Amino acid sequence: MFPYQNYQESAELIRSRIGARMPRVLLILGSGLGFLGDQVENAVCVDYDQIPHFRPATAPDHKGRLVVGDLNGVPVMVMQGRMHYYEGYSPEEIVFPVRVAKLLGVEFMIVTNAAGAINTGFSVGDLMLISDHIRIMGESPLRGENLPEFGPRFCDMTATYDPDLRRMAKEKALSLGRPVRQGVYYYFPGPQFETPAEICMARTMGGDAAGMSTVYEATAANHCGIRTLGISLMTNMAAGVTQNRLSGEEVNAAAARAQAQFTALVLACLAEMK
Ligand code: HPA
Repeated sequence: MFPYQNYQESAELIRSRIGARMPRVLLILGSGLGFLGDQVENAVCVDYDQIPHFRPATAPDHKGRLVVGDLNGVPVMVMQGRMHYYEGYSPEEIVFPVRVAKLLGVEFMIVTNAAGAINTGFSVGDLMLISDHIRIMGESPLRGENLPEFGPRFCDMTATYDPDLRRMAKEKALSLGRPVRQGVYYYFPGPQFETPAEICMARTMGGDAAGMSTVYEATAANHCGIRTLGISLMTNMAAGVTQNRLSGEEVNAAAARAQAQFTALVLACLAEMK
């Protein structure tokens, strides 16, 4: 268990680097979607390995740094590279930066990911606003001693993905001429992609998209009162939906193709988080 003091020490180091500009929105960028971090203005970059108690991100294409500055006029803290369970990190380690963000004054989180479409009505390239998630495997990031500074022992999960933010994002997407899907994110711990049988199970249980991230960060954000918007990019149809085999290269290629649409939506949503 990490003591509260660890979170404070990390926040203190970041504060010493960014001065008086306190971020309002935490942006966690998923596989192949890190490019938004490069558009931050007045950026101060802090590598994870310079922050006490932070762990490095090892996933390919995850740079492993915080970028603090302005995006579309909104003070943001961008995690360029996140930690995943499949890298060997514990759920508590994965959510550490979210709690540090809380101490820095963050009120909103936009969390993005690449995902496989379980819902056969979806297509590659679709964006899905996460309405809810299912996490059967992998323990809760809130397991162990509760830190009441962040939230209650038994935390309500009814509105983990803020309904008002979702409504707002849906309208923004419509006005950009690129309507989005909404659905349930089904978490798999990875790093292997799922078997077709696992995807059938997830569909039966109500999952629309399969992915290996996000649920821990969203749970911790909900616990400490950060309002969350989750956006999944369908980089592939999930295993067994088509005859195609899955690969990390395919995921990154699809993410690169979605760059413009994705950027436009995130920037439009940010403007509403002023
Ligand atoms: N499954 C799990 N995670 C993913 C997938 C998938 O099909 N595509 C991108 N991330």
